Amino acid sequence: NPLNVIRAQAQLLAMDNRLPEEAKQAATRIIEQVDRVAAQLNEFINFSRPRQIRKGSVKIQNVIEEVLRTLSFDIEEKQVAVKSIVETPHIEADEQFLRQVLFNLILNSIQAVSVGGLVEIIVRPSSATEAILEVRDNGPGVPPEYKEEIFKPYFTTNQKGTGLGLAIVRQIVLAHGWEIEYVPNTPTGAIFRISHIKIA
Ligand SMILES: Nc1ncnc2c1ncn2[C@@H]1O[C@H](COP(=O)(O)OP(=O)(O)O)[C@@H](O)[C@H]1O
Ligand SMILES: [Mg+2]
Repeated sequence: NPLNVIRAQAQLLAMDNRLPEEAKQAATRIIEQVDRVAAQLNEFINFSRPRQIRKGSVKIQNVIEEVLRTLSFDIEEKQVAVKSIVETPHIEADEQFLRQVLFNLILNSIQAVSVGGLVEIIVRPSSATEAILEVRDNGPGVPPEYKEEIFKPYFTTNQKGTGLGLAIVRQIVLAHGWEIEYVPNTPTGAIFRISHIKIA
């Protein structure tokens, strides 16, 4: 697509040692902005796409590890400590969509915490047949008056945000027959809790 062409050309300029340093830095900024536009475009496309859920038995630890690898740059840049506790190894889910859910929630947490902050991913049973998945952080949390708003499309408090991350998460959660709620963490921070997940 045209964004790839812009990015590739800017990449060539950024690596061209005949150019002055300023020009190379300008090219690097073009690359960064192209990446941002591409990420936002992906969110819009994802949001408007109809969701056909294909459930199977998913090894949740693998999905968590994949998502953390994708986010490793953001995690390292902010020196975020990430912990995961998985007590129910297999759940019934559409793996691709589950990856998207975890990506959006974990990215939000990384963005919310301060440098050196903590993000936890917990999967635990709530009954003999069902599990709960939580993404927790020790950032500022969500003000009580925004508790419901945050799941609506285009609601964002982030200047560079699209406000679609949690709207997509909610679509995917509902398509699976799960539920999602925001719960304040103690002493501070956010908990996004997905419930009624079937253990596989
Ligand atoms: N972990 C979190 N801690 C605090 N606030 C959050 C967290 N996750 C989401 N939010 C709030 O919900 C809003 C909507 O999130 P989202 O739908 O992912 O859109 P975006 O990330 O583009 O702002 C955010 O702008 C922020 O105000
Ligand atoms: Mg987001």
